[in-house]
Amino acid sequence: MSIETIKEDLVELLAFYAELGVDCALSEEAVDWLNHGHAAPGDAIRQALVPAPNSRDRRTASHPGPVPERTRQGETRRSGGAATVRPERRPPAAGGAARSPLDPGVAAAGTLAARASNLEELRTALESFEGCALRATAKNMCFYRGAKSARLMVIGEAPGRDEDLVGRPFVGRAGQLLDRMLAAIGLNEESVHITNVVYWRPPGNRTPTLQETSSCRPFLERQTALVEPQFLLLLGGAAAKNVLEVSDGIMRLRGKWKQVSLGGRTLRALPTLHPAYLLRTPAAKRQAWQDLISLQRALLESS
Ligand code: URA
Repeated sequence: MSIETIKEDLVELLAFYAELGVDCALSEEAVDWLNHGHAAPGDAIRQALVPAPNSRDRRTASHPGPVPERTRQGETRRSGGAATVRPERRPPAAGGAARSPLDPGVAAAGTLAARASNLEELRTALESFEGCALRATAKNMCFYRGAKSARLMVIGEAPGRDEDLVGRPFVGRAGQLLDRMLAAIGLNEESVHITNVVYWRPPGNRTPTLQETSSCRPFLERQTALVEPQFLLLLGGAAAKNVLEVSDGIMRLRGKWKQVSLGGRTLRALPTLHPAYLLRTPAAKRQAWQDLISLQRALLESS
């Protein structure tokens, strides 16, 4: 076997592991599997997703939920009380990417989020929420960073490895670039509220699935209602598609203002390129800069 063939095989094997969600060979924290009994990783979440026997809509019992785009790697497992909220039917979301209102995780999220009257209560509610499968593999929840109340809310895709370790959104390299982008138009953490469409890191930094974004959505809606922004800056395709409920790619969406209803508020939303993409593609910074200028103008005009 030639060196080239061995190399190709190894590259293929690594790609296969990456598909499975593997992002490190060994984690720094050991997992005590002996103390897990017979429960598999993510078992608590699966339990939470099984509807109560007297559920009003029995279709939820057989609802398979969306198939994850890729299988996930178990890293560490978190425990906590499952939210025992009976699933309810809700009307389908209007337009854009279909959500799964029959999913009990989404119904539980709606009930929990609605009870929060401030961001700290919402954080506590999120900490007790077991309806998003990402929680099982994440080390920390990343809720938000920045101002509690702000005219501009920045929404990204999902926490990455650095964010997962620290428990705050956008603290890694992409976050540092985001801070520089905001500073370029006179904004900083004190004037902006920064969050993501999901609050836990997807294994291997894969794109969150529909189940994952849908179960976090009621929290994002409540968060928006509490922060009371006028403007949204949507970073990257996943955030833009999710918030705007459209299927267009970011290159088509970016730079175009949209009106969106979120958390009972009508907001002006500007999709732009994700700072992680800009780190990989510096030539695209020119387009991001145009979007930032447009944002600055809109902020100035409305003040
Ligand atoms: N990328 C995101 O979309 N969000 C983060 O918090 C970090 C990186």
